[in-house]
Amino acid sequence: METVVSGIRPTGNLHLGNYFGAVKNFLKMQNDANCLFFVADYHSLTTHPHPDNLNATVKQVLAEYLACGLNPDVSAIYVQSDLPEVAELFLLLNMIAYTGELERSVSFKEKIRKDPDNVNAGLLTYPVLMASDILIHKAAKVPVGKDQEQHLEYTRNYANRFNHLYGVEFFPEPVAYNFGVNLVKVPGLDGSGKMGKSEGEGNAVFLKDEPDVIRKKVMRAVTDSGPTEPNQKKPEVIENLFTLMKLVSSDDTVQHFEDSYNNCSIRYGDMKKQVAEDMNIFVAPIREKIKEISSDDKLISKVVKEGAEKARESGRKTLSEARKIIGIRSF
Ligand code: TRP
Repeated sequence: METVVSGIRPTGNLHLGNYFGAVKNFLKMQNDANCLFFVADYHSLTTHPHPDNLNATVKQVLAEYLACGLNPDVSAIYVQSDLPEVAELFLLLNMIAYTGELERSVSFKEKIRKDPDNVNAGLLTYPVLMASDILIHKAAKVPVGKDQEQHLEYTRNYANRFNHLYGVEFFPEPVAYNFGVNLVKVPGLDGSGKMGKSEGEGNAVFLKDEPDVIRKKVMRAVTDSGPTEPNQKKPEVIENLFTLMKLVSSDDTVQHFEDSYNNCSIRYGDMKKQVAEDMNIFVAPIREKIKEISSDDKLISKVVKEGAEKARESGRKTLSEARKIIGIRSF
């Protein structure tokens, strides 16, 4: 079976955009491949989170993914820093990673533009660490979106460079992959086009949101003054509301509002009420599960312990072979 690795940065809570994008893909994947999912806590250190917050966010991320259905019985779910082998591979790969190449990374340039006072070497070598996360398990497929494509290109470069330098066929060259899941772009509620936590308060519906919070957010969603002619083309904000409805409501419900849009009898207030209600029905079981798992420290600790064991088994093997290839051998 193929090996698939994915890193999850511990930043903020999961929202519906994450759910219908990454999470759904993960759920499908875990049945189709040998999956390793980890929380990228080393990567998050580039911004120096407070020690107390770091642990809490890692735990929250784990609880939310588990609540969505990530299954520790079939996949390895671990914390990046519990796999010391990745840190050593990172050191080794740094020797074949060129600084000029790293300086040209789009995300590095973006980060130094946004925060010029914190241009640390960890930011520069972010792609090397990410390559190590993937190559430590010799994964050939990585379920990431477009924004991570360049990082995967670095990974392929290092794999290829290593193989060439030492005349081996050791590391595979991993590619971005989704498991036939239609990656829908989930629109936000503020008309900005994309649901995201950084877009501002009220734009995203989080899986942990209580019913009244969801209701409030949805009722405030941006709309217009309504159609004036039958079968009129929908403006983007209305299209977005329909897209959200399609994610959580039944076909009949969607059809009902399509019809009322087309005959100009639609009342957006009613439509939003319906969306909020159906969103609540969708989110409720996940939210309750998040609460349950967040308060179960034993469960989380068991998951990451077993996950780390599985990850280390695979990591140790790759690292010991890589060391031998490089010439680090025992006397
Ligand atoms: N860079 C990824 C992101 O920002 C997170 C990540 C770190 C990752 N290591 C990885 C993703 C390895 C896939 C594989 O989302």
